[in-house]
Amino acid sequence: MHSGGQVSQDTGLAVIDRRRLSDLIERERAQHAASHAASLSAFGRAGEHLLGGVPMTWMRMWPGGFPLYLATAHGARLTDIDGNIFTDFCLGDTGAMAGHSPAPVQLAVAQRYGELGGATTMLPTEDAAWVAAELSRRFGPAQWSFTLSATDANRWALRLVRQVTRRPKVLVYSYCYHGSVDESFIINAKDGPRSRPGNTGAPVDPTLTTRVAEFNDIAGLERELAHRDVAAVLMEPAMTNIGIVLPEPGYLAAVRELTKAYGTLLINDETHTFSAGPGGCTGAWRLEPDIVTIGKAIGGGIPCGAYGLSSVLAEQILADESADIVDTGGVGGTLAGNALSVVAMRATLEQVLTDDAFAVMIALAGRYTAGVREVIGSRALPWNIVQLGARAEYRFCPSPPRSGSESNAAADPAVDEYLHLYLANRGVLITPFHNMALMCPASTRADVDTHTELFAAAVDELLGR
Ligand SMILES: Cc1ncc(COP(=O)(O)O)c(C=O)c1O
Repeated sequence: MHSGGQVSQDTGLAVIDRRRLSDLIERERAQHAASHAASLSAFGRAGEHLLGGVPMTWMRMWPGGFPLYLATAHGARLTDIDGNIFTDFCLGDTGAMAGHSPAPVQLAVAQRYGELGGATTMLPTEDAAWVAAELSRRFGPAQWSFTLSATDANRWALRLVRQVTRRPKVLVYSYCYHGSVDESFIINAKDGPRSRPGNTGAPVDPTLTTRVAEFNDIAGLERELAHRDVAAVLMEPAMTNIGIVLPEPGYLAAVRELTKAYGTLLINDETHTFSAGPGGCTGAWRLEPDIVTIGKAIGGGIPCGAYGLSSVLAEQILADESADIVDTGGVGGTLAGNALSVVAMRATLEQVLTDDAFAVMIALAGRYTAGVREVIGSRALPWNIVQLGARAEYRFCPSPPRSGSESNAAADPAVDEYLHLYLANRGVLITPFHNMALMCPASTRADVDTHTELFAAAVDELLGR
């Protein structure tokens, strides 16, 4: 698709000779297949009974045409079944932000599951109240409930806001991602809102359930909220799933003001923006949403999720006799809040992703960002890198995108594939979705510097230096 020596007209990508890129990708693919023979063969055998040849179809996203098969993972290191060792900046796309199998979580999980027993019993354990209090300290909301994924935290939060406000719609940002939440697969196209391409078997057209705005566009948000049919804005305080899009000064204050003015609730999805600090962006930037949702990292890799409600909202929902939240009313799950995931959250928050750990992780991401920025600057590349706490991401445009749609326009799957393969072939993994790197407490300066050197070398080859 990108071969033939054409030169892209896009400002950030015009520097790239497409024929050279195509040749480099071929070379890296060949090397990838040669050095991962066991993974390739396991993948070849898996197709008979695994849909798409993988346990979960997203695992097809890895560059090179097949996923590496995991052998072991500890801290920031991962080994595949061919014996290749990787420095892992993907960290399970944030699920392993605590590092792989950190010792305190190993212990807590082993003790709960083995010694004490009872992973899932439909009975509470005392750890849950500790975790709720800690989430409250970090993120603000007073009352918490648990799920098994961030997707479910968002789904259930959306039900609660509709119930409380008696409004039918929600508002999300174009090119957002909040998990497989039906309402959120909508984008702003040239001719208006429409279902995001690829939206699989959508139960209803999302234009019926959802309003959509561009991030950082205050007037556009107000226009949508003025319909007064939006129960809640569901947002990441900084977008992280279409590259990183930071809020401009005053934008989040305007969102809060407008949501209050139009009777709309505000949900901060901190699943990825947790990287901004111990309390995510909500804590770091002193935001005051009505609801915070989170998942992935807080369980140290054990499935979990949570949503926190302001005390006003919690009182409203508990007092609402038409809302069945203790049986089959659409909010809840049999394994949610189970003893195993709760103890994993406790160990992670109490002993691994602590306030002190964040300081180290954020400093490392600063080093990573500075290194990449130096490479970009010294080669006069029209690219940029954005940091969000312990996370950083490069994008192929001269200045950081202001919205999801702008960021989407700067995407280039071929350049992504080349960079990802180049790094993976030399022992560094970044997230297979766009160019995200994340630090965990076990990441080191040497890991960061290795990435910087490889990024420089990859870029130089791409530029024909
Ligand atoms: C911001 C955000 N929210 C929610 C989710 C859903 O997480 P999960 O797939 O673990 O349910 C994701 C996943 O990438 C996410 O990035």
